[in-house]
Amino acid sequence: MDFGKTGGAGPKLRWICARLARDGLILCGIRLVPDGLHSPFRKIPLGAESSRMTNPSDDAQRSTEIPAASAQPWPGSPRVFSGVQPTANIHLGNYLGAIRRFADLQHQMESVFCVVDLHAITVWQDPVALRHQTREIAAAYLAAGIDPAKAIIFAQSRVPAHAELAWIFNCVARMGWLNRMTQFKEKAGKDKERASVGLFVYPALMAADILAYRATHVPVGEDQKQHLELARDIAQKFNNDFGCPDFFPLPEPLIEGPATRVMSLRDGTKKMSKSDPSDMSRINMTDDADSIANKIRRATTDALPIPDSVEGLANRPEVENLVGIYAALANCPREDVLARFAGQGFSQFKPVLAELAVAELAPIASEMARYLREPDAVDQVLAAGAERADAIAAPIMADVRKIVGFLT
Ligand code: TYM
Repeated sequence: MDFGKTGGAGPKLRWICARLARDGLILCGIRLVPDGLHSPFRKIPLGAESSRMTNPSDDAQRSTEIPAASAQPWPGSPRVFSGVQPTANIHLGNYLGAIRRFADLQHQMESVFCVVDLHAITVWQDPVALRHQTREIAAAYLAAGIDPAKAIIFAQSRVPAHAELAWIFNCVARMGWLNRMTQFKEKAGKDKERASVGLFVYPALMAADILAYRATHVPVGEDQKQHLELARDIAQKFNNDFGCPDFFPLPEPLIEGPATRVMSLRDGTKKMSKSDPSDMSRINMTDDADSIANKIRRATTDALPIPDSVEGLANRPEVENLVGIYAALANCPREDVLARFAGQGFSQFKPVLAELAVAELAPIASEMARYLREPDAVDQVLAAGAERADAIAAPIMADVRKIVGFLT
């Protein structure tokens, strides 16, 4: 401790500095984040924090602006985090937009995949159904090829860091930022007064999910883009407000491929959704081969033949959707699908698409059913995953508590 720097500090300030130094927080004008596996930064200059304390008028300005992003690349290790809500009717969009990509990414980076039950209860969930749905998402992860010996699979509520960091982020994020979230507007509908407070602050919890692991890459569908931008803003503001540049990485959304926004089979202008009242609007991951084929056969299309170029898909949302689904399932660009089917009618295209969808999805549905017949085994996977997840998040949270100024 360099007391020379505190100049004429009185005994009380000296005592506080001595305590902080003892706790490993301040040394020679440098605040130290305790050493640990997940703390790539050790030295944090005190400047930003002391100006915050001595110049409270700064605070109003600090609190509304989104600070500029750091130009430095994140020096920690890359890590993937993503999650799916355990709400009923997990569908083809969840599979192609997210879960199938999780299975690929586990081979490229350390990966953490969560069943986000805290998110699910932002709208009413029957407790018995919630337990089943939580196992169902875990079963979907496993059936899609996520290996629990490699990637971490767990339920969000079993790791306390999510809720704790979410509270801190509620105090970092601004009302104005959350007010702009289009998904809240859509989900709350006309009667915002009756929406849960949790639904409003949901994106701060999502930021906490990612940043509790200092995750750098987040595979999601297109609909989560705005939430991920908010997560980046929260990370940046936390780093800025507490004078700890790069404590949190700015997570990169991974929104790639031809199926980042799978649309309803009944209306190509609406996203395929778990909550659509029409079961014919979506292919559920639990559907058997007959249902999958039937839903594709009855999917809305138009009377024109399949075009020969991507430009020809403009203003034909249902056709664009089916071509995108085909491309995603066949792992090829949309151009290849159009080259093969150009000029053909849907009576030729749909049976081939149905065959492809059944070949990929029916085995996953039967694997899911097999896992769900052994709920204890699924629970064991989730419990082991929660331990591993907690082992990553707990030391990061310990650092966060110190940075924020909580006694530890
Ligand atoms: P959720 O449960 O609504 O959806 C899970 C994943 O599926 C993607 N998705 C789609 N992709 C393509 N086409 C569709 N029609 C479609 N519908 C859904 C979603 O984009 C998502 O990737 N808030 C998130 C869950 C979450 C999360 C997180 C994700 C909570 N914390 C942290 C990433 C990181 C959600 O409600 O997903």
